[in-house]
Amino acid sequence: MEKVKKPFMVELPRIYDPRGNLTFIQNGDQELSFTIERVFWTYDVPAGEVRGGHAHKEGGELLIATSGSFKVNLFDGRSWQHFVLNRPYQALYIPPGYWRTMDDFSSGSVCMVLASNKYSESDYIRDMDIFLKTYGVED
Ligand code: TYD
Repeated sequence: MEKVKKPFMVELPRIYDPRGNLTFIQNGDQELSFTIERVFWTYDVPAGEVRGGHAHKEGGELLIATSGSFKVNLFDGRSWQHFVLNRPYQALYIPPGYWRTMDDFSSGSVCMVLASNKYSESDYIRDMDIFLKTYGVED
């Protein structure tokens, strides 16, 4: 299945300040290709741990390393792409239909996720065989 939307990295605005820098995003901004319905974050991830391991059927997500760094691995059914998130002003958009894992979490890192939909387990594909049947490219 050809995917309409592709993953991309985007730089968010930075307000430089000698007191400490500030970054923001809000609904309607061009960096955001959806309306935010939910925000969640993972933290205290033990060294060597892998998170994710699923795709979303409908939901899009914007990932930000608000602290520290981690790697995001995206699979479209044919090939993997890898993104390192290590700046609080950089964001990675993950469209629906992409299998993702996150690994290489640095100590103290925080993965903040802005999501286009509310939490619903029915929006998840957690089985790689089902993912490949749905999105895999057979050639
Ligand atoms: P999951 O999305 O599998 O985490 P990750 O992709 O970061 O490894 O979610 C882990 C658990 O948390 C799972 O039982 C569902 C629950 N959860 C919620 O209740 N609400 C949420 O918004 C999210 C993202 C997860």
